[in-house]
Amino acid sequence: MARHLITSAIPYINGIKHLGNLVGSQLPADLFARYQRDRGHEVMFICATDEHGTPAELAAAKVGKPVEEYCAEMHAVQAEIARGFRLSFDHFGRSSSPQNRVLTQAFAKRLAEAGLIREVTEKQMYSNADGRFLPDRYIEGTCPNCGFDSARGDQCDNCTKQLDPVDLINPRSVISGSTDLELRETKHLFLRQSEMRGKLQDWIDSKSDWPILTTSIAKKWLNDGDGLQDRGITRDLHWGVPAQFDGAPWAGMEGKVFYVWFDAPIEYIACTQEWADANGKGEADWQRWWRTDKGAADVTYTQFMGKDNVPFHTLSFPATILGSEEPWKLVDYIKSFNYLNYDGGQFSTSRGRGVFMDQALEILPSDYWRWWLLSHAPESADSEFTWENFQTSVNKDLADVLGNFVSRITKFTRSKFGEALPEGGAWGEREAALTEELTTRVRAYEGFMDEKEVRKAAAELRAIWVAGNEYLQSAAPWTVFKTDPAQAAAQARLALNLIRLYAILSEPFIPDAAANMLESMQCSDRSWPDDVAAALEFLPVGHAFTTPEVLFRKIADEEREDWQKRFAGIRS
Ligand code: MF3
Ligand code: ZN
Repeated sequence: MARHLITSAIPYINGIKHLGNLVGSQLPADLFARYQRDRGHEVMFICATDEHGTPAELAAAKVGKPVEEYCAEMHAVQAEIARGFRLSFDHFGRSSSPQNRVLTQAFAKRLAEAGLIREVTEKQMYSNADGRFLPDRYIEGTCPNCGFDSARGDQCDNCTKQLDPVDLINPRSVISGSTDLELRETKHLFLRQSEMRGKLQDWIDSKSDWPILTTSIAKKWLNDGDGLQDRGITRDLHWGVPAQFDGAPWAGMEGKVFYVWFDAPIEYIACTQEWADANGKGEADWQRWWRTDKGAADVTYTQFMGKDNVPFHTLSFPATILGSEEPWKLVDYIKSFNYLNYDGGQFSTSRGRGVFMDQALEILPSDYWRWWLLSHAPESADSEFTWENFQTSVNKDLADVLGNFVSRITKFTRSKFGEALPEGGAWGEREAALTEELTTRVRAYEGFMDEKEVRKAAAELRAIWVAGNEYLQSAAPWTVFKTDPAQAAAQARLALNLIRLYAILSEPFIPDAAANMLESMQCSDRSWPDDVAAALEFLPVGHAFTTPEVLFRKIADEEREDWQKRFAGIRS
């Protein structure tokens, strides 16, 4: 039994995620976690909400709630939606947890002891009315280049000129609108990432099996001069992990917090601690996943994320881990994704464009979405969601191929033999050929799942469903029955066993349908078909089954058009 530590990039707390976010991290991570569990391995699957930083503060202010309260509520909302999509986290934690506060401060202390932290004094815009420093994009004013009156402190959206807040004419605070701003000196802690260039380079060079998307982004940042500059890890904010250690403020850092991108990945570790604390486990139970001196050396650690997250996971977080010089587990494999687009444009959280996770579940059960998203995962390039494509996939793959197979053979058997595996007949060449094809395909499917080749795995699974359908079509037990009922019985036995086999193989993609299929086969044994031939004889003659309700319904054209219209605009 192998041990798999699996993490999904932790979603920001502010707002509900769209389907593009889902398919870029949480969903493929769930696919992999389910598959490894199904193979009998031990899995620790971790995700959390990313709660600190200005966006959370501003979102809370907008709804007039204290930020703690806002985050607690939004965490509950995201957790509920995750359950709706059947995301099988062992723990869904919070980066604002006490465990993460302690651990983040401990990392900072270790980095300081290793000489990897230096203090830098900068000048930054301070808003007297708001009583705080303002990040660049929370300052607006008139563009000195084109005169646009809502240029942001970092860039003008009208003429695209890169700006510095001091360039703006009549700068004002986005938070309060106040123009009472001044430049003030402020001190920050910087992580000396540049010191670690060699170590990081060697580490990334050793990962020849990583996806090109991951390594190409990592190398671009490593070699790009800019990529590995020392990086500020503190901010002048209220909401975050206080920049302290051992409970005492770091001299000169009073009132400051660590930058959200410093504490967020540390939450992967802290979240496992949260899991231990929530489940009556001890230190050894979480450390065996994370400390190579405490049993984690034989753990395989896989991370899932969208491509925008790659620099933080290939450079910044490893710099924290390596810099600590403590035996923390480093990631073994980073699976990254391109973007999913929506109907001719981009999904956009800020503009409310596309389908959001809560809305998707209002329309159709999670398996429909899981199947489409995973079978169209943006692996080698960006991919696009269109309602036509969604309708076609659901109707063909799920309803016509898998659903129809299950319904046809259960109904046929029930009507001719009753609801139990019928007796008589024997298998011949056709069955041998099917067994052989399925054996080859199941081995290929395992290979793709092990390699985290999501689309290829989906295509292979679909081919496995198709093979059963084609068998049924060519064996035609409904015709055979008229002349040779015993032979038809043997064919039905095979096909009913196939339902169980499909349930086991399909579970990582469509867990609810898989559970229904197993239930209708009245079987709780989900052992993986290492031997496909044996699996096809697993349910014996006389084993009772029930005929399931429709597994997947088709999407009608009118429905599709309705949804197309409903989701054409922006979410209010
Ligand atoms: N919240 C970030 C995002 O949604 C991801 C953070 S991943 C972590 O893009 F590693 F920092 F935790
Ligand atoms: Zn401009």
